[in-house]
Amino acid sequence: MRKILTIVGARPQFIKAAAISHVISEQFPDSIAEDILHTGQHYDDAMSATFFRELAIPAPRYNLGVGSGSHGSQTAAMLKGVEEVLLAETYDAVLVYGDTNSTLAGALAAAKLGVPVMHVEAGLRSYNRAMPEELNRVLTDHASTLLFAPTLTAMENLRNEGFVDERMLFSGDVMLDNVRRYAPAATLPPTYDGEEMLLTVHRNTNTDAPERLSAILSGVDEAAGRMGVQALFPVHPRIRQRVDSMMFSHIRTVAPLSYLQTLAVLQRVHLVMTDSGGLQKETFFSRRPCVVLREETEWTEIVACGAATLTQPTATSIADAAARMWELTPSEPLQFGDGHAANHILDAISSLF
Ligand code: UD1
Repeated sequence: MRKILTIVGARPQFIKAAAISHVISEQFPDSIAEDILHTGQHYDDAMSATFFRELAIPAPRYNLGVGSGSHGSQTAAMLKGVEEVLLAETYDAVLVYGDTNSTLAGALAAAKLGVPVMHVEAGLRSYNRAMPEELNRVLTDHASTLLFAPTLTAMENLRNEGFVDERMLFSGDVMLDNVRRYAPAATLPPTYDGEEMLLTVHRNTNTDAPERLSAILSGVDEAAGRMGVQALFPVHPRIRQRVDSMMFSHIRTVAPLSYLQTLAVLQRVHLVMTDSGGLQKETFFSRRPCVVLREETEWTEIVACGAATLTQPTATSIADAAARMWELTPSEPLQFGDGHAANHILDAISSLF
């Protein structure tokens, strides 16, 4: 029996880890044992525990309880905590997901101790080093032993940085596995009231400057007004206070949604406006058009096929983009693998063992 330590900490990682955990328990029960380490980066029930319950993810064996902080102090606390676990217990590999501070801390702690690092969602690039996520993913990729790329673009990005084919695999995207697995169980939240637009915004580049946040929300408000609809806005706790101090007639704010609630809302709305990477993909997988509230994206294939569009952070750019995208129905999401990414990832990890 080989032992894997899965490191998660932020909301999108719980969702990605669910895909892998299910395949481990269903298909590798006698050869792979998984322990989960939660860094505690996200800790509100609606940002964390809800996902473990709803997606039936095994309870974390370790919880570092790191909580909020500056990037340096948060990452440092995680690095120290993960190292302590890896010194106390032997693991054959560490699995990290995406590009958060939890990803980087987990990868760095393991690589320094010589424990092989497996990076799920490797090779993504925005080529904007001002984003904390860009630094996290570049550094994580370079600390990893095996890199699992969700798209062919991600494979190409890695080749351009000198990675050899033996270290990487085009696995497809575990988030597509999840949308397929969980769509039948999607359940509308009690807070849903027939809205036809879904809005999320939480990136620090969009939310830290009040003028920029206000311009973005004004653009969404204007778009919904032009279309004669309402936008549902589940608010990330980091910006709750700032959003509460602004008023918009076509935007209705609610608490964060669970995963199954998000999938259900995606099946109801016409258009999604977001700066989230994960939601851009879930929108595409649900065959809804997306206005990306950013000037660049890591998920370039969704923009290339016309299912999403990028925007400038001005009200007019956002409202015009929404009007253009409103009635579009995106094509099948063929660029993200065959919906069995988790199986391909675990097959590759087993062969390494
Ligand atoms: C993090 C990731 C980002 C990811 C996002 C998903 C990094 C650098 N960023 O951003 O890539 O898209 O998660 O949501 O790792 N807070 C709460 N309760 C919580 C969690 C956060 O109140 O459960 C508040 C705290 O005030 C905290 C702030 O949100 O300081 C920011 O949280 P943090 O985890 O540092 O970053 P995110 O903005 O969530």
